[in-house]
Amino acid sequence: MSRLYLSAPHMGGLEAGYVAEAFATNWLSSVGPNLDAFEDELARVVGAPTCALASGTAALHLALRALGVGPGDEVLCPTLTFVASVNPIAYLGARPVLLDSERTSFNLDPCCLEDALRAAERRGRRPAALVVVHLYGQSADLDAILPLAARYGVPVVEDAAEALGTEHRGRQVGALGDVGVLSFNGNKIITTTGGGALTSRDRALVDRARFWSTQARDPGIAYEHSELGYNYRMSNVLAGIGRGQLAVLAERVRQRRRVAFQYRDAFADLDGLELMPQAEWGLHTNWLSVFTVDPTRLGVDRDALLAALARDDIEARPAWKPMHLQPLYASAERVGGAVAEDVFARGICLPSSSFLTDDDLGRVIRAVRGAVPGASAS
Ligand SMILES: Cc1ncc(COP(=O)(O)O)c(C=O)c1O
Repeated sequence: MSRLYLSAPHMGGLEAGYVAEAFATNWLSSVGPNLDAFEDELARVVGAPTCALASGTAALHLALRALGVGPGDEVLCPTLTFVASVNPIAYLGARPVLLDSERTSFNLDPCCLEDALRAAERRGRRPAALVVVHLYGQSADLDAILPLAARYGVPVVEDAAEALGTEHRGRQVGALGDVGVLSFNGNKIITTTGGGALTSRDRALVDRARFWSTQARDPGIAYEHSELGYNYRMSNVLAGIGRGQLAVLAERVRQRRRVAFQYRDAFADLDGLELMPQAEWGLHTNWLSVFTVDPTRLGVDRDALLAALARDDIEARPAWKPMHLQPLYASAERVGGAVAEDVFARGICLPSSSFLTDDDLGRVIRAVRGAVPGASAS
């Protein structure tokens, strides 16, 4: 039996053709028809102009810079996320303020956000930006978060790295705040092997990000530079993979949801093992199938489930470790943190690849049930 991975690439079939075209026409670098087409096709999905980049992390860096974040600034962000949501704040010399999650979606808690905004106002400061993360393929509570940020004059970056295909009130997330960020890393719902994108309804902002991503070279034949730039552009070869992947995005969303709901149904009789919440305000892709374990009710804890899965060569992981528990950000200011800590302590991410067969899912289900005292085999 082969190893089951947490979240592996799943090609659709058209990718190799677009890559071959890039080779045949020798458009192998940071310009070319695949890049133009990928940006256009992605713009239709997110409903706003896009710029294709080397990674989601690069996109976050450019997004924060485009909003004017600089040394000494405060930037609000959730503590329950992957470290790449927060590192670009530090790249710019700014300070993250880490906010707890709510229990309806595991995303940024609007009450903590309001507390942080009020506290900043009392000190006569205004945070330079808010990073909202749509975790595991589920939208944050934007109905509450966006008006709050607007009331305090704080621009919003949506970190939708895990949320292509995710909807809030019927609209794809990413272009609902001021700037949005997507990732096409190998573990994401669609992939360009590695890659990302920035999106905004503000076309001038997207153009500025594209300019910075190619070393900020001024117009003209001389290598003249007036602004600081980066080598952050996606290549035309990888954009070809992206075009093939975008063609199957809707199918990938259905497949990821099927995986999560098949697990949920198979564990329905197990008291103390629950699929993460599915908030009413949006379409949750369940990019990763995340469950929470209540060890007293289930009779076994999360780490015992991880160990049982590992014995069967099945990759599973804890939920994200909150940023305030990381040595790197232990001294950062924070508001709350108990919900994020609880999700981290009890959360388990099960294999979620979109190509998993009924047999694969059966193997995961048997390994989990086998570790639960008194559970039948299936
Ligand atoms: C929430 C979140 N933000 C940002 C990133 C960074 O994306 P990338 O790996 O493309 O740099 C990731 C994923 O890796 C992520 O999960």
